[in-house]
Amino acid sequence: MIVLVTGCRSGFGLLIAVAAARAGHTVYAGLRDLETRGDLEAAAAGLPVIPVQLDVCDPEQRRAVVERIVAEHGRIDALVNNAGIALGGFIEQLGEDELRRVFEVNVFAAWALMRDVLPHLRAQRSGVIVNISSMAGRGAMPGLGGYAASKHALEGMSEALRHEMRPFGVRVVLVEPGPYKTDIFSRNRRIAAAVSDSGPYAAMQEKVEAVFANAEFGDAQEVADLVTRLLVDPNPRLRYPLGPRVRARVWMERLLPFEARAKVIKKIVGF
Ligand SMILES: NC(=O)c1ccc[n+]([C@@H]2O[C@H](COP(=O)([O-])OP(=O)(O)OC[C@H]3O[C@@H](n4cnc5c(N)ncnc54)[C@H](OP(=O)(O)O)[C@@H]3O)[C@@H](O)[C@H]2O)c1
Repeated sequence: MIVLVTGCRSGFGLLIAVAAARAGHTVYAGLRDLETRGDLEAAAAGLPVIPVQLDVCDPEQRRAVVERIVAEHGRIDALVNNAGIALGGFIEQLGEDELRRVFEVNVFAAWALMRDVLPHLRAQRSGVIVNISSMAGRGAMPGLGGYAASKHALEGMSEALRHEMRPFGVRVVLVEPGPYKTDIFSRNRRIAAAVSDSGPYAAMQEKVEAVFANAEFGDAQEVADLVTRLLVDPNPRLRYPLGPRVRARVWMERLLPFEARAKVIKKIVGF
């Protein structure tokens, strides 16, 4: 298969590119800045991984990459919308530019890439779109509402697209990881500028940070392996939650009304 994966500098994207290439696919691995391809190239040595310049927010770069793939192979079989950014902070603290940026990367860019790729998938009457959402795309924790909002938007769009693509034989899948220790928690950690250690939210912020500091993290390779399996699954489900304690969380969502879940969240965060 000919696969385009976005956000391959680090984390899931890098691992997905390598795992998919190991499984025999040709992978175009998008990088926001091609100069940062060092880790990817080292991990993908000898494999059919082609690093490409792709800031997902740049319409010209999006168009050029899809055109190049179709020119070189006459087809494109899969798009993995993985590039994403987070944003910590309570809703009242989020700056408009900060929130808009999260939606630009996590929602609008993913949508625009789908729009660029879909004519090819429809014409082929085959193909798959894998959107990397999050557990935050199902339920929203305090202190991470901007990020949760963007992933909920991605989920809604993907669900509609799943229905829309059924007649064309194109599969649409959501992967919903829980916490995995990638660069999103370090080099790419983003906190709203208004967050501070004084003010009305300071004590709550401290508690939210303690929850993340003590969180159980999964092995990011399992996300890459799942995505690689989904590329060739002829009948995938719409949603694939995975990660530490994911089963308990999913059952909690299925069985408990919001008020009961809110009590659990209150217990976890301590407010
Ligand atoms: N780690 C988790 O616990 C977790 C859980 C649920 C969902 N997710 C989702 O998983 C996806 C991957 O995140 P990760 O955890 O692997 O974090 P990561 O290591 O920070 O990787 C994110 C990748 O996205 C890239 N990116 C950001 N903005 C971009 C842009 N405008 N154009 C192209 N690429 C861009 C980053 O490139 P640069 O570093 O060069 O900016 C980086 O390669 C995200 O969608 C995230 O929301 C992560």
